Amino acid sequence: MEKAQLKLNGKTYDFPVVVGTENEHAIDISRLRRDTGYITLDEGFHNTGCESSVTFIDGEKGILRYRGYDVAELAEKSSFVETAFLLVYGRLPTVTERKQFSVLLTENSLLHEDMNHYFTGLPPHAHPMAILSTMVSSFAIFYPTYFVDDKDPKTFDTMVAILLSKVRTIAAFSYKKSIGEPFVYPRHDLRFCGNFLNMMFASPVKPYEADSEAEALLNMLLILHADHEQNCSTSTVRLVGSSRVNLYSSVCAGINALWGPLHGGANQSVIEMLESIHASELTIKDVLDRAKSKSHPFRLFGFGHRVYKNFDPRAVIIKKACLKFLESRKTSDPLLDIALELEEAALKDEYFIERKLYPNVDFYSGIIYRALGIPTNMFTVLFAMGRVPGWIAQWKEMHDAVPIKIGRPRQVYMGAPLRFYKPIEEREE
Ligand code: SDX
Repeated sequence: MEKAQLKLNGKTYDFPVVVGTENEHAIDISRLRRDTGYITLDEGFHNTGCESSVTFIDGEKGILRYRGYDVAELAEKSSFVETAFLLVYGRLPTVTERKQFSVLLTENSLLHEDMNHYFTGLPPHAHPMAILSTMVSSFAIFYPTYFVDDKDPKTFDTMVAILLSKVRTIAAFSYKKSIGEPFVYPRHDLRFCGNFLNMMFASPVKPYEADSEAEALLNMLLILHADHEQNCSTSTVRLVGSSRVNLYSSVCAGINALWGPLHGGANQSVIEMLESIHASELTIKDVLDRAKSKSHPFRLFGFGHRVYKNFDPRAVIIKKACLKFLESRKTSDPLLDIALELEEAALKDEYFIERKLYPNVDFYSGIIYRALGIPTNMFTVLFAMGRVPGWIAQWKEMHDAVPIKIGRPRQVYMGAPLRFYKPIEEREE
C-alpha cells in the first residue's frame, strides 16, 4: 500500500494513500490531528475531498461521467428521468423500473393545495430561486416522511419523486405567478419535460402545442446539469445532510448555494453581462480588458472553472445544440454573436490561456433558455431542476455511510488573545 510521509519536529508520520477507479490519488489525513496535533488549511477546498462513486470528472481532459457513463452519450441517448434514476439508484432502469418511476413522478407532481396559496402572498417580482427555496423548505411541513427515521426504501423513493417532480411544478408556477397567469397543473399524459413546457406556456385561452425539439433540448440540458461531483451546492447538501436532517432540508440548502453568481447563478449573470455589452459601446477588447484587470471587480461570467482546466464538456455540447436550435428555428440572437466573439477572443488571449480559463456550462445555456422562451430570472431554477438528482444521489451516498460522520471542519484561531471584560464607563472612546 503506497503511503505519504510527513516529517514534523523531528518525527516522521505515515499516512495511507487512496487510489480511485480512474487512478486519482489522495492522502488520507483523517488521523493527522490525532497523530500530530496539526490540521491543514485549504481555502476554498482546492485540495480537500471525499470518496464518491456517483460522478467522475477529469478536469485536465474535460471528461464528465455519471456512474461511469459519459455525459455526452447520456445527453444523446438517454432522458432526464432515466439519467435521474441512474444517478440516484446507481444503474440504468429496466423497463419495469422505468415505468414504476414515471408513475411515482406523476403521482407526486401536484403541490399540496395549501402550498399553492403560498404563491398568493408572494410579490410578483419574487425571484424564482427564492420561491423555490421557500417552497422546498416547506416540503418538510407538507410531506413529513423523513427517510432518516424510516429505513423503508419506499419512503426514500417517494421523497425522490417528490423532489424531482414538485421542483418542476414549483418552477412553472413561479413563472405563471410572475406573469399573472393562472397555474397550469401537471398532466398524467405528458413526459417530464413536455409537462414542464406545458405548465410554463399553456394557458386557459391558449393551449400549448407540443414541441418535440424543445422537449428534446430541455431533456439534454437537464441531463447536462444533473450532477457535478463535489461542487459548492452539492458539498452544501452533504454538509447539511451530515447533521441527519431530512433530505428536503438538505436539498433546500443546496438550492440556496446554487443561486450564487459564482455558481449556478452564473447562467443568469452571463445573459445580463451579454445584454449590458450589447446595450453599451464596449468592444470585445474593452470587456476582456475589464475581466483581466485586478482593479476592476468584473469577471467574465460563464468562463473559468475550479476543476476544468480544459473545455467543460457540457459547454461544448450546449454550444453545438444552441447553434443548431437557432438555425432550425431560422432565428438569431445578438447575444449569441457577442458570446461567440468573446469566446474566440478569450481563447486567444494570454491571460485566459495562462489561467486555463474556458467557457463553462453556464456560458451558452442561457442563450438556449432564451430561445425556449424562458425568462432570464428562471435560468438558475432550470439549473436546480437538473441538479436535484445529483444532490439526492450524493446525499444518499453520504447517508449510507456507516456511521454518518457529521461534517465539522477545524480552524486555526488568529483573533485576540485572552482579555477581560471592562464595564462600559471604563472603556476609552
Ligand atoms: C458552476 O464547481 C462546479 O462544478 C460548478 C459547476 C457545477 O456544475 O456545479 O460547474 C457550475 O458553478 C460553473 C461556474 C460558474 N461561475 C462563473 O462562470 C463565474 C465566473 N467564473 C469565476 O468566478 C471562476 O472561474 C470560478 C468561480 C468559476 C472558479 O474560481 P476559482 O477556481 O476559485 O478560480 P480563481 O477565482 O482562483 O481564479 C484563478 C485566476 C484568478 O486570477 P489570478 O488571481 O491568478 O491572477 O483566474 C482568474 C482569477 O481572477 N479568473 C478569471 C475568471 N475566472 C477566474 N478572470 C476573469 N474572468 C473569469 N471568469
